[in-house]
Amino acid sequence: MTKFHNSDCTCWNCPAINLAGKVDFRACGQSALKFEKKQDETGDSHIMAECKRRPELGLFDPTSITFEECPEWRETQYGYLLKNMRIMILGMDGYLGWTLALWLGKLGCHVSGIDNFSRRSWVAERGSHTIVPISDMTERLHAAKEVLGLNINFRKINILDRELLKEFIEEVKPEAIVHYGECPSAPYSMIDFEHAAYVQKNNVIGTLGLLFTMHEVVPEASLIKLGTMGEYGTPLTGRPIFEGMFPANAVLKWNNREWSMGGELTPRDPVSFYHCSKAQDTFNVYEACKYWWLRSYDVMQGVIYGVYTDHLAADPRLRTRYDIDEAFGTVINRYVAQAVIGFPLTLYGKGEQIRGFIGLEDAMQCITRLIAKPPEPGQYDVVNQMSGYCSMRKLAETVKKIGEKDFGLKIEIQRVENPRVEADRHPFEPIFNKLPDEFGFVQSDMLEKEIHRMFALLTRPEIKKRIEEKEHVILPKTWWSGEKKEVERLELIKNNNHAVKKNGKAVNIN
Ligand SMILES: NC(=O)c1ccc[n+]([C@@H]2O[C@H](COP(=O)([O-])OP(=O)(O)OC[C@H]3O[C@@H](n4cnc5c(N)ncnc54)[C@H](O)[C@@H]3O)[C@@H](O)[C@H]2O)c1
Repeated sequence: MTKFHNSDCTCWNCPAINLAGKVDFRACGQSALKFEKKQDETGDSHIMAECKRRPELGLFDPTSITFEECPEWRETQYGYLLKNMRIMILGMDGYLGWTLALWLGKLGCHVSGIDNFSRRSWVAERGSHTIVPISDMTERLHAAKEVLGLNINFRKINILDRELLKEFIEEVKPEAIVHYGECPSAPYSMIDFEHAAYVQKNNVIGTLGLLFTMHEVVPEASLIKLGTMGEYGTPLTGRPIFEGMFPANAVLKWNNREWSMGGELTPRDPVSFYHCSKAQDTFNVYEACKYWWLRSYDVMQGVIYGVYTDHLAADPRLRTRYDIDEAFGTVINRYVAQAVIGFPLTLYGKGEQIRGFIGLEDAMQCITRLIAKPPEPGQYDVVNQMSGYCSMRKLAETVKKIGEKDFGLKIEIQRVENPRVEADRHPFEPIFNKLPDEFGFVQSDMLEKEIHRMFALLTRPEIKKRIEEKEHVILPKTWWSGEKKEVERLELIKNNNHAVKKNGKAVNIN
């Protein structure tokens, strides 16, 4: 029998469990501690469980059955998954949400989701459009059924509408909730007070409402919450960017004394009002797990690139969005689009800023593996989800190399003024071991392959035309200072060296 990352998990991790018996949650605190089974004078376990899926078992010790042994958990390439697992995706109409809906549906999960289509309005408000045309939700759902045989249960709901959200969650009873449903843009949050307040209310209050709803309706479901590597900032001391919490052997030394820092949240240094909303979410989710024994993985996600999965490519009506404007386009996606229309690739400032990245398919794999190994009751854990990191300049050079070599394009790189407040040069040592070590994440060697795929898609005449129509939204106009003016060119870079190292297994391509 294959050993998976979750083979030895027990009902203690399973969302189908109802805990019964003498459970004093408050006395236990964070439950990442090993559960110790104790007997009282009657011989009863202190914590007993019932299975919602197998009520015939009656009351039993929740540590006595493993996922490997339980017939409700079936083998998949990403570990054991609950049969017909009910998964709700918040923000299902978005770049990642739609991709995940098809991905999990094809894995046999019962997928439901909500969205209020705000991403479509934000991009229109910025005068842009997705350069890969996407269908409306009705057509998407129809195509998913027709082409992939999927029945996806979608409802148009604003997360801030707690009544409607609660009703839908009560109806579906999700066993895992993936929360993508936030405004994901730093520049959008920096436009003015109204936009900053909107982003913070949408994200922070939306998530807070969700936490209360989960507490009331599905406390045993796991919450996969999307944060961002930008929550940490880039500490200028060069200390490693740990995965949310200090490791057990970290110590604080001060005035000839020292303390263990193990298990404490690491400092956050967010880099925009959007990133502040994510950092506030982190604390709210952490607290909810502590107060109510909710379970959550907080995913500090690197910048995503690519628009390919087999399912998205199965039919034009199934495609996911691809934005190129300053607020909603992500960096690699923007570079490829710029290269296709002969717009010099835009490095901000010196272009030496380093960021973590991960391809779309790898990101889907990571989320699936997290869903497959739910946290224990009360467990809040953080993973840094990235597959490599490098400087903006090296990324631009990689895009240039592939576009010129494989597609015969002439590509230039320019430095423009940096409208953000950030260090141009900084040390960067992110730790991203948990996903490979504890969740079996196997990184595909996909950076160059995916850039090639993006060029193949974007050089199609009808897509190229859609990029050209929106060339005017490429250069940033939102300054962190509050100014509103297009950035100016500092330099057109003459000689680029192409010495970009290979993006192998979890390596730095800087
Ligand atoms: N794409 C990336 O590179 C990246 C990197 C790091 C973190 N993230 C995080 O991942 C998540 C998903 O990112 P994405 O790129 O798919 O963004 P997206 O904007 O495409 O998806 C978010 C979806 O949520 C919906 N939404 C937002 N607020 C809502 C509300 N109040 N009610 C209902 N629906 C609402 C939007 O309409 C949109 O469809 C976000 O939380 C983002 O911050 C993304």
